Amino acid sequence: MALDRSQVHNFAAGPSPLPTSVLEEAAVGIINYNGTGMGVCELSHRGKEFKGIIEGAEADLRQLLNLPDTHAVLFMQGGGTTQFASVVLNVLAARRLAHANVPTEQYEPPVLDYVVSGSWSSKAYAEAQRLAINGDSKPFFVPRVAGSSKDVKYTALPSKYDFTPGAALAFYCENETINGDEFAPTTGNDASFPFDKVPEGTVLVADYSSSFLSRPIPNIGAHGIIYAGAQKNLGPSGVTVVIVRKDLLVDSTAAMKLGGVPVVPIQSEYKTLADNGSLYNTPPVFPIYVSALVLRHLVKLGGLDAVAKTNKAKADALYASLDKAEAAGVITCVVRQKDARSWMNVPFNINNGREAEFLKGAEERGFRQLKGHRSVGGIRASIYNAVTLESVQALCAYIDEFAAA
Ligand SMILES: Cc1ncc(COP(=O)(O)O)c(C=O)c1O
Repeated sequence: MALDRSQVHNFAAGPSPLPTSVLEEAAVGIINYNGTGMGVCELSHRGKEFKGIIEGAEADLRQLLNLPDTHAVLFMQGGGTTQFASVVLNVLAARRLAHANVPTEQYEPPVLDYVVSGSWSSKAYAEAQRLAINGDSKPFFVPRVAGSSKDVKYTALPSKYDFTPGAALAFYCENETINGDEFAPTTGNDASFPFDKVPEGTVLVADYSSSFLSRPIPNIGAHGIIYAGAQKNLGPSGVTVVIVRKDLLVDSTAAMKLGGVPVVPIQSEYKTLADNGSLYNTPPVFPIYVSALVLRHLVKLGGLDAVAKTNKAKADALYASLDKAEAAGVITCVVRQKDARSWMNVPFNINNGREAEFLKGAEERGFRQLKGHRSVGGIRASIYNAVTLESVQALCAYIDEFAAA
């Protein structure tokens, strides 16, 4: 039957699989939402039906993350890439307003610290370098690397950190989707994010795009901003969840009038989105609707502790097979620091020129979208929430068989 997809195991890195039960519900909703006789994409975003959807999504998200009331939840557009800029613009505006009595010419550009642990944090840093430019005048801010694992080609997390006292922002990417290194889920491990080293008063910003909702967020309340594009664990691409501490919901127009900060487009200003319940302009209604269904589904599964337990079992099984295959000389895991191995994105290389053979066998067995990111090649198995333990076990069996051949 055309709607059956059980013969395939989809290991895509994003957009990635969503729970079939959710998609079945969404398929009805796109045609006739809740008996209204109208599809969810045909309803006003200001009507009571959509209000119920977006408010329900926020309530479920707050419950799942145990999010304190100090933080607002925004549903935005533009993906993680837009957030590389939006976090900077809002933090700079907040910093400028906190020094409103300083004349522009005396206003010192603040330092923005970046932890660079892979391709995505590297892109965020590159965007910061671009935004700092202010023609011939002094830069708007000073982007700086406060920890990097570039020297080991991101096969581990940074081994040391050096944050700047007084920095306006400290940025990290919790899970590097392409490189496969991820901060540990607990504190006090070599691979944990060094929360204790971030100076007081510095706004901590985390890119959670590819690990959002895979397990609880350590130290969630210590973060100023957390963002995540939906297209991994949450829903279709097109919506980005942004969690913002409420003191960062500032009037960027007032900051721009003071001078010394870059222009903040209204669609990037967190305060505007928050003041309008994420409905300042037309939101991506379908991605928000499907995300709301996924959030409900995760609550019913028992919340993030239950989700984390399954994800850990999946990751443990896959790494056990890969370690065995590596010991046999057949594959090489990309990430060398074991505690930093991602639960979500598992990159590895096939040795001895056998990659095409591996992929052909995988394809024949129904494994899909295993090719590594175009920038690094190799293989990447993404095992997001909607990838079942059974799918991972099937892949493990194939890796075991391939290693033994
Ligand atoms: C960790 C991370 N950050 C940022 C991005 C960029 O997100 P987007 O493509 O939604 O702009 C991605 C995309 O995969 C990502 O994995």
